[in-house]
Amino acid sequence: MTAIVETDRSRLSVLQAMLHGSVPLESMEALGEHVASTPHEFAIVIGPSIQVDDAAVFAQWARVHKPDLGVILLRETVDAHALSTALRSGMREVVESRDLAGLTTAVSRARAVSNAIVQNLEDETQAAARAALSEAQARADAAREAAESPTGQMVTVFSTKGGVGKSLMAANLAVVLSEQGRSVCIVDLDVNNGDIAIMLQLTPMRTLNDLSAFHGDVDVEAVETLVTPYSKTLGVVAAPVRLDATEQATNEDIGKLLDLLVRVYDHVVVDTSGTFDDFALTALDRTDTLVLVGTLDIPALKGLKLATQTLDLLNFPREKWRFVLNRADAKVGLSTEEYEQTLGLKADCSLVSSREVLAAVNRGEPLVKAYSGHPNSKAIRALAHSIAGATRTEKAEVDADDRSRSSAGRFRLRKA
Ligand SMILES: Nc1ncnc2c1ncn2[C@@H]1O[C@H](COP(=O)(O)OP(=O)(O)OP(=O)(O)O)[C@@H](O)[C@H]1O
Ligand SMILES: [Mg+2]
Repeated sequence: MTAIVETDRSRLSVLQAMLHGSVPLESMEALGEHVASTPHEFAIVIGPSIQVDDAAVFAQWARVHKPDLGVILLRETVDAHALSTALRSGMREVVESRDLAGLTTAVSRARAVSNAIVQNLEDETQAAARAALSEAQARADAAREAAESPTGQMVTVFSTKGGVGKSLMAANLAVVLSEQGRSVCIVDLDVNNGDIAIMLQLTPMRTLNDLSAFHGDVDVEAVETLVTPYSKTLGVVAAPVRLDATEQATNEDIGKLLDLLVRVYDHVVVDTSGTFDDFALTALDRTDTLVLVGTLDIPALKGLKLATQTLDLLNFPREKWRFVLNRADAKVGLSTEEYEQTLGLKADCSLVSSREVLAAVNRGEPLVKAYSGHPNSKAIRALAHSIAGATRTEKAEVDADDRSRSSAGRFRLRKA
């Protein structure tokens, strides 16, 4: 709509007759009331009887508060003062009062400009609403992802040979990690020959096989019932005690168990059976640090060489490997250097053969506690600290990157 402000009534009627449907107003006060009550007004024609400065005050107000409202100034003669005042105050046009055709064109233009501005504002509002919506969606997705994403780190102790010291490493690494005030859970995936419970003198009420009772519906509460506590910060999901159980945990159960534990504990340490079985692959699939254990003898070297080749084929990143050379002092005519060279890996931790190791195992005490000053205890501590430090740094980098576990931070086997 258009409104006309003119104190001269006869001129007001002429203008009103010209601009069909326009609203006649006889004063600036009436204009103020009209604008307040008519939000969709698009043009105001200010007649010659109104002082140009009064018109300018209104135009300045409209420029800020109603940018879609066009102010058109009608003057008997368009002089420099009227033009510059109109320009400065943001009026759309100045038209001579006898140029009636010019006035109708100015009003049409004001309508077009107003429509464009309104459309623009609507587009902007819709775009802002869409942006706010997708931002809220992204925030909700990020929060959900953060709640579901693992915060802990998984360490898997592995070798392709039995009796090399895997369980010894798993138990002692876990104890050291838990001594640093972090929560740790050991999962004994050596289902046919699990030693972790014995090594820590535990009598588990529940074991891995009890997972089957949940029929795949495994959640944090279910998992917690399987954990046998060793200390305030260390728990164990023990290997089955009986080998003839009718119900056995499936590979899928183990995967779910590990995924849940790594969300609850700071460190999950997995002990394995010494073969690339399904459970070991399920653990390796989720592993942040792989501790490879070997002893200084040719059969162990041959087994480890095969293991490293297989891990390379499985696309397991070498920067996640730590190599532990156990019984590194054995006099078997093979030097550590020759061993490392053949294997293509340098030992990150070397342990000597020692009666104290056996004594601690037989007493059901972790070596790092029973003989904390023993060279093997010191070596295991150093390795545990380096694993905790490395995983902390890696986590901090990932967090800084996108505040979630990025796909680069983890990997999936069998995808290459
Ligand atoms: N450095 C060492 N000095 C003396 N004894 C050791 C040493 N390392 C391991 N042992 C002993 O060797 C035996 C096997 O160790 P451990 O059970 O840790 O090996 P493993 O790789 O887990 O074996 P398995 O494949 O049978 O599970 C244990 O009795 C352990 O005490
Ligand atoms: Mg073992």
